[in-house]
This record gives sequence, structure tokens and C-alpha cells, in this order.
Amino acid sequence: MDIVDRSVARAPKAPLDPKNLPFGRNFSPNMFQVDWDEGKGWHDPRIVPYGPLSLAPSAMVLHYGQEIFEGLKAFRHPDGSVRLFRPDRNAARLNNSARRMSMPEIPVELQLDAMKKLIAIDREWAPPVPGSLYIRPAMIATEEGLGVHSSKSFLYFIITGPTGSYFSGGKSTVRIMVARDWVRAAPGGTGTAKTGGNYASSLLAGAVAKQKGCDQVLWLDAVERRHVEEVGAMNLMFVFDGVVTTAPTSGTILAGITRESIGVLCHELGLPFVERAIHIEEVFHGLSSGDCTEIFGCGTAAVVSPVGELLDGETLYKVGTGDEGPVAKRVHEALTAIQFGTAPDNHGWMVRV
Ligand SMILES: Cc1ncc(COP(=O)(O)O)c(C=O)c1O
Repeated sequence: MDIVDRSVARAPKAPLDPKNLPFGRNFSPNMFQVDWDEGKGWHDPRIVPYGPLSLAPSAMVLHYGQEIFEGLKAFRHPDGSVRLFRPDRNAARLNNSARRMSMPEIPVELQLDAMKKLIAIDREWAPPVPGSLYIRPAMIATEEGLGVHSSKSFLYFIITGPTGSYFSGGKSTVRIMVARDWVRAAPGGTGTAKTGGNYASSLLAGAVAKQKGCDQVLWLDAVERRHVEEVGAMNLMFVFDGVVTTAPTSGTILAGITRESIGVLCHELGLPFVERAIHIEEVFHGLSSGDCTEIFGCGTAAVVSPVGELLDGETLYKVGTGDEGPVAKRVHEALTAIQFGTAPDNHGWMVRV
């Protein structure tokens, strides 16, 4: 499908400084859009200036939340090229989300082509590392009408924006609150889809966590309320007796691409890596006995985010020394070296724009 180019050319006013680029606040000048209509399929792919969308107030996305999205990054390499990290995995995950949310899949080739063309046009907006260009594809239900059924029209779009390294200027570990009063995802629900409602329903717990001085929420399973699932926008890894341990993606957890990549890297670094159910009590015991030496979150935004403290009710558990642990450090360095282009990309993870 030929993408029509109606972009504007606009370079940043000043050189982009990763220390000064808060996440999700700055947007590149152009965006990609393509429409889907029942009986017609995907049509009219185009790159147009970033700006407001025109939607009817009865558009279904505004009432029933038929929406999915993705998040990935592109990095500026030492040779000046801009490269996406594993965009094919995000494109495949978007289609998984689409199936769960009764939305049309979009060919992976079209998603990749759109990302590459858009980023090529706005390449000046990719900051130097450790900054990156954050890419946000999304799909929304646009049909006008209040009947509860799957929309007969959709808009898929991609916006991008320069972002700094997550913790630039901030502290290096996070404090996480165990959610006891709310759950994120139940078996058979939408936990494995990247859909807005999962995030909307997590906001209250997030606000309570903030009040208690925590950065994020740790979700337990909805049935027994004892298995560790994930945190707000990251998967979680525990180091038990030297074994990097993470919960299986059993249908209630988002299958993180950082998580998947870390599994591969642990293997290469000679770090034992297992996926198994993790009881929260086992974590507390491990932290008290010293068997659990590290906990870290992993996800596109922060890459690796060491957990310094875990709060459960009134009890605050310290994780290891409270600082970044050696496993988190090794994994973080190995992954960012590939992303930044300072280590060889043996897996073909980096895709040139
Ligand atoms: C709920 C949730 N879990 C895990 C992740 C980590 O996934 P990824 O590594 O693909 O960014 C994210 C972020 O995308 C998320 O929103």
C-alpha cells in the first residue's frame, strides 16, 4: 500500500538534550494514519502533520473503550542511523490485542513500513542516547453510535516523540506497593491485551500508591491473590539464589518484549532464568532470609528498573542493599548496549529506519 506523504518539515529549535526530555511530553511534527471500514479493509495510509483528531462525540471509543496501543523505541546509533528495537514483536502484539478486543488486525508489513517512513521523515527528532524516540501506535473505534457492538470503522495512527533516559536526574531505584484491594486482570479478561481500560482501572491504585510514597503498584493474581503478576507498566523479575525468576505470561499478564529479550540475554550471560509462579509470601520470606537478593521491573520506558523497597500494608521490605543489584546492572548494560549500537546485534533486533 502506498503511503501518501503530506508531512511538514520541522526540525527541533535547539539540540535535543536527553536530560531535558520528560517521558511522553514532546511530540514530533508528523503522524501516520490509516482507516479501516467494514467491507473495505485498511485504506488511505498517510503521513500528516501531528494535530487533533476529528471524532464524533458518539464515536464508540469514547463510550466503550474499544482501543489498543503499543509502545516501542528507536535509538540513534554511533553511525548516525536511527534504529527501532524489535518493532516486529510490537506489531505482532498489537494484532494479539486486536483479536482480543474484536478489532481488525493490521498487516505487520504495513505497521513496519508506516513506522519506518514516519521516523525517516522526523529523524531529526530522535535524540542522542541515552535518549530515544518513543513510538506510540494506537487503534481506536470510530463508528458513530451508542449500540454496544464491535465498531464498523477504525483509525490506526502512530505518533512519536523524543524522550530522555527514564531516570535522568532521578533516583535509581523504585518503591513498589503491593495492591491488596484491587486487581488488574482476571483469567479470561483483557490482561494480556494492551488496551486502555486496563490502565484506566489501575489509576486509583496508582494514586493510593503515590500517597504512600510508592512509585508503582505490584499486582497479584485475581483468584488467589497471592501470585505475583506484574507492576504498572513493567514485568517483574526476582533473583532467588542467583536464579532470575519471572511469572509466566498465562493470559493475565502483558507479554513484555523487554522481558522476552532479557530471557534471551540471561541465557547468553550464563544467568539461570526460569518462568514459574511466584508467591508473594515466598518473596517476603526471601527478602527477610536473604534468598531473594534483587527485584527489578523491565519494560520499554525504563528498560530495567531496580526495586529498592516493597510496601505491603504497613510493612516495608528492603530489597538487597536498597540499590541497583549486580544482575539488574548486567542485564541493563547488555540490553542497552545492543539498543545504543555499542555491542553487536547478534539477534537482528535492531531495524534500520
Ligand atoms: C502492563 C504492562 N506490563 C509490561 C510491560 C512491558 O512491556 P514491554 O517490555 O513490551 O514494554 C508494559 C509496557 O509496555 C505494560 O504496560
